[in-house]
Amino acid sequence: MALNLQELREQALKELSSLSDSERLEAWRVKYLGRKGALPLLLRGLGSLSLEERKTTGAEANKLKDALLEALEKRLGEIRSHALSVLGTEAFDITLPGRPIALGRLHPITQVIREVGAIFSSLGFQVVEGPEVEWDYYNFEALNIPPEHPARDMFSTFWIDSAGEQGKKMLLRTHTSPMQIRVMEKTEPPVRVVVPGTVFRYEATDATHESMFHQVEGLAVDRSITMADLKGTLFEFIRLLFGAERKARFRCTYFPFVEPGVDMAIDCFICKGKGCRVCSYSGWLEVLGAGMVHPEVLDRVGYDSRVYTGFAFGMGVERLAMLRWGIEDIRLFFQNDIRFLRQF
Ligand code: FA5
Repeated sequence: MALNLQELREQALKELSSLSDSERLEAWRVKYLGRKGALPLLLRGLGSLSLEERKTTGAEANKLKDALLEALEKRLGEIRSHALSVLGTEAFDITLPGRPIALGRLHPITQVIREVGAIFSSLGFQVVEGPEVEWDYYNFEALNIPPEHPARDMFSTFWIDSAGEQGKKMLLRTHTSPMQIRVMEKTEPPVRVVVPGTVFRYEATDATHESMFHQVEGLAVDRSITMADLKGTLFEFIRLLFGAERKARFRCTYFPFVEPGVDMAIDCFICKGKGCRVCSYSGWLEVLGAGMVHPEVLDRVGYDSRVYTGFAFGMGVERLAMLRWGIEDIRLFFQNDIRFLRQF
């Protein structure tokens, strides 16, 4: 029996030293120490021995069991530290904390569009959207700008080559005003909508001009709407967006689809009205065009201009964002420089 125990020890330890993964170590444990393993099997044969022999062999067997368990632990430790040392020499370190996932955020222009939408919603306007590829009719003709009208020069246009249905001309909309017509064609007065969207102009870029930018159009038509409603609404809007201390001014201007027409400017955020490059040395930054909807525009969509009046405006979202955050160059918005964008 003593010899058997000795043989078992040698065989088990020899086998153990050749194992190098935890699965095979477990199989080894079952083979020698498990319930039906070699050592318990051997111990079961003790019954045939004398009491004295049983005692000494039993004690020997227990020692062997402890020794084998200890050897198993040691081998497991060796395998683990070997695995870690291999990891240390490889580029991939699983003990490092994970890299945080970069969280995205809304583009500053989207933020301003949503804020403008929320302000006008609170004033009773509905937010709607329309197509960026437009017919000449909606972008120009229905807005009192027939072909060859000099006002077309105000809106340098990206034309789409292929003539549309029945030879009608298509373009990338140069402003959000075509949506005035689309909304009125589909709705009976009263109307109160704002229309945010992307617009395109074939013009050189500079600190305050882009060839792709955003506008929010506004339109209110009802009985007895006056210029005072337009002024009250826009001044309240500026107060809600920028606070009461910001200065705003109205000046007369010409748009064929309103009468009278105005543009609204806000005091320049950089020079505080003294004059600088951003405000073209005027001290003011133009943010929107507006006016009372021209009676011919109303009549063209079937509204009776003797009964209904309305106001409309179209604001430049980038200009509002520039004023909001004191940004000196409009081109920064669309260069996709993450160092700029992550500030908002
Ligand atoms: C228009 O686009 C008219 N549709 C506005 C309007 C609507 C008038 C309803 C009357 C009634 P204008 O071309 O001025 O007007 O543009 C309106 C605003 O868009 C400007 O005040 C300015 O803030 C912004 N804007 C115009 N051109 C550019 C540009 N190239 N880059 C950035 N913003 C611009």
